[in-house]
Amino acid sequence: MWRISPLSLKRTIFPIGWSNQRLLRYRKRRMVIGLKENGSLTVKRRKLAEYKEKRIFTMEGQAKGNSHIIHLDKVWKTYLMGEVKVHALRGVSLTISRGDFVAITGSSGSGKSTMMNLVGCLDLPTQGAIFLDHKDISRLDESDLAQIRGRKIGFIFQQFHLIPTLTALENVMLPLEFQDIELSEARKMASSILEKVGLGDRMHHLPGQLSGGQQQRVAIARSLANNPEVILADEPTGNLDSVSGANVLGLLETLWKKEHKTIIMVTHDSSLAKHARRVVQLKDGRIVEEG
Ligand SMILES: Nc1ncnc2c1ncn2[C@@H]1O[C@H](COP(=O)(O)OP(=O)(O)O)[C@@H](O)[C@H]1O
Ligand SMILES: [Mg+2]
Repeated sequence: MWRISPLSLKRTIFPIGWSNQRLLRYRKRRMVIGLKENGSLTVKRRKLAEYKEKRIFTMEGQAKGNSHIIHLDKVWKTYLMGEVKVHALRGVSLTISRGDFVAITGSSGSGKSTMMNLVGCLDLPTQGAIFLDHKDISRLDESDLAQIRGRKIGFIFQQFHLIPTLTALENVMLPLEFQDIELSEARKMASSILEKVGLGDRMHHLPGQLSGGQQQRVAIARSLANNPEVILADEPTGNLDSVSGANVLGLLETLWKKEHKTIIMVTHDSSLAKHARRVVQLKDGRIVEEG
């Protein structure tokens, strides 16, 4: 048994277009998911043999054209803390071109993660509109958000959010299995992605047997499993030493240049931010500088 918070679960292994309903159905087939009193989920895998259902995996082709892929229009996000309103974002407007590499900087509490959660279809704005691929995502329900998230977005976090009891290969296979891809096919796809991130010789290691940098590369491999067009990286090097951090950044740059992914990277390290093509600075929920 391992434990992971519901939000990080949604962000990582369940982002593949799964509504809550489907999650419950999945539970019957493959996993036992329980909600603990403290709000955390417990998940226990079933035997592989119990999992038989097969469906066709549709991988969307990369969208064409050079138009913008993300557009925020006067976006506000207000959290209610008891009686107190916290304005995490105060009317942010921002347009991100397809295939761009954007760094979001700003001090702690400036609203960076809030913005990533909104762009990543994990949360809804209080006011304003957000367009992903010209579709307004700011009024969708959770099931539609999950669909879009699963097709378009890959997440990378400071805490790698790997499942400690699964090997690197199994961690990367998980989102593919959630797409109902046949196991042998999922294994093939996951190993080729792991090769791509330079971990071909570490596939059968558990996260605990890997360095921080290697774990983050597994997390990147997992984020690539659904072939997302947009990669959202929230402080991806925050837990890494400078050499591993540079490796991870190099990998993101490769995905940007060679695979034409749109990359949005939150960092408060200006030496990392300057690798991006564009830098957007947030302060107290507002954009103060745009490069
Ligand atoms: N779920 C939440 N509930 C209440 N306040 C929140 C929540 N998430 C973020 N905040 C507040 O919103 C502001 C912006 O937070 P965040 O987006 O996490 O900033 P950053 O990622 O730049 O450090 C902070 O004041 C934070 O305390
Ligand atoms: Mg943050």
